Order: sequence, then C-alpha cells, then structure tokens
Amino acid sequence: MAGYVLTIAGGKGGVGKTTTAINIGAVLEEHGYDTVVVDADLGMANLGEMLGAEHEETIHDVLAGNSTVSAALTKAPGGLTIIPGEQSLEAFAEADPAKLRKVIKTLKNSFDVVLVDTGAGLSHETTVPLGLADGIVLVTTPDDVAVNDTIKTADLAERVDGRILGTLVARVTRNTDVPAIAEKFDHPLLGVIPVDLEATQDEPHVVNYPESYASDAYRQLTTQLERVFFEGATGEELDHVFDEEWFVEESEGDDEDDESEEDEDEKSDGVFGGLFG
Ligand SMILES: Nc1ncnc2c1ncn2[C@@H]1O[C@H](COP(=O)(O)OP(=O)(O)OP(=O)(O)O)[C@@H](O)[C@H]1O
Ligand SMILES: [Mg+2]
Repeated sequence: MAGYVLTIAGGKGGVGKTTTAINIGAVLEEHGYDTVVVDADLGMANLGEMLGAEHEETIHDVLAGNSTVSAALTKAPGGLTIIPGEQSLEAFAEADPAKLRKVIKTLKNSFDVVLVDTGAGLSHETTVPLGLADGIVLVTTPDDVAVNDTIKTADLAERVDGRILGTLVARVTRNTDVPAIAEKFDHPLLGVIPVDLEATQDEPHVVNYPESYASDAYRQLTTQLERVFFEGATGEELDHVFDEEWFVEESEGDDEDDESEEDEDEKSDGVFGGLFG
C-alpha cells in the first residue's frame, strides 16, 4: 500500500511548520508507523539542525542528481527518519524542486506516512509540495500577518488542486481570539497548539517534554490525522485539537518557571467562544 503524503505549509516564516512536521512524525513513530520527514524548505533548510541530526547526503544532493533517496535517509532523535537539507546557496542553486515529485513517489513505497516540511512564501519550491500531497495542513500563528499569508498559501494550494485538510493555529494563548481566526478560513480549523517556549526548544518535544501541553496537543493532532491517513476521513470530520486545561493558567510562559500543573482554581473564561464545543 502506498503511504500518505502530508505537506505542512503556511505563508509566513517562523510560525511552527517544522516543529509541527517533527512532532507529528515523532508521534506517528511512537504509534508504530514508519514515517519520514522531508525538508522541502530548500532555501532555508533547518530540519536536521533543529533535531541535531548528523547527516551526509541531503535532499539538495538528491534534487541535484548527485545522490539517491535511500542514501539521504537519515536517523534522527525520537526514532525519526528524515531527509535533511543543507544551508548553502550553492546547494540551493543546484537543487531542482521539480524532482521532488519523484523523490516523494519513491518514499511513498517504503513509508506509511511521508511528511513534507515546506518553506514560507509563494515560490516554485513551495508550490511543488502543495501539488504533490495527498493532504495539506496549513500552520499559522494568531497574528493577522501570518493569518493573511496563510490564506494566500491556501489560495495557491487550490490553484494546484491541493487538498487542504485544515488549519492549525500554533502559539496560542488564552488571549487568542480563535473563533475570529477560524472565520477567516474557508477550510476547517483543525485546532490549536498552546505556546510553550521551553518545550519547543528541544525537538522533538513530544519525546523530550512528553508532559507539556504542546506535546499533548501534537498527540491529539496526530491521532486525528491518523483517521485521515488510514481511514479516509476528511478534515471536516476530525475532532478539534483543543483542551481547556492548556489555557487555565497564564501560559505565555516567558517569565515563569513554575511547572506545577496542580493549580487549576482559575478556570479559562472560554477564549474559544464555544467554537470547539
Ligand atoms: N507552540 C509553540 N510555542 C512556542 N514556540 C514555538 C511553538 N512552536 C514553535 N515554536 C518556536 O517558533 C520558532 C519557529 O518554529 P519553526 O522553525 O517550527 O517554524 P517554521 O514555520 O518552520 O519557520 P520557517 O518558515 O523559518 O521554516 C522556533 O523557535 C520554535 O521553537
Ligand atoms: Mg521551517
């Protein structure tokens, strides 16, 4: 059976696309699915670096015709298999994004799930992964600029007949107006990932900080996505990734090192406005 190809995309840089690809991948591995994460952010490749993975051959070598897919498969922390990229401008210039289609086709034959991490913007190298995916998850942060850029990515995906499963809002706090964000998208809101400045420094955080709320959120997200990958569910059919507990305490988190999760007296006042029921 051919594996499922999920592209993780979003218009703006730094919103959490790579973090999302890594942690979905790590949860899928925990669940026993053979998963590979491919760095298709050819201009600003940093998947290998975020995981501290040692590598030799890269996606750039493969796309330049200088290496094979199997030679570029690299073991990374968290039981992950990745195809990392490299940072140099020379490598970027030589890599042909159009060859990615063949690379992904090859990977589909050996993995249950192929996760394609993409770059920001609307270039050819971001368009190719939108067109070749079985499904697309859009990632945004709550700010207007990121949301508007992600709507543009959604429009681009439609033009290449990409199948958008929905949008994930990362770095959410109790002050985020999630219903207002949901309204701006034509596609379903899959859910939210709470902001966590500590856990997300050490990826995959689902492995390194399994108790964090962000890890809980990525586990919920992956469990929902498995219904799409293996049972043919649509984005609309999925349960929302959300837990009120994540937003009970102030979770902006930068000036607190109190890790106690006991204090639940203060209840969230429902920043989700009943959206997630
Ligand atoms: N839930 C979160 N809470 C707090 N910080 C986060 C969260 N998710 C990701 N981050 C941090 O945000 C930064 C950007 O994340 P990441 O590299 O995953 O984004 P990206 O969309 O892939 O960026 P780029 O477009 O540059 O590739 C990183 O420092 C990451 O640790
Ligand atoms: Mg990235």
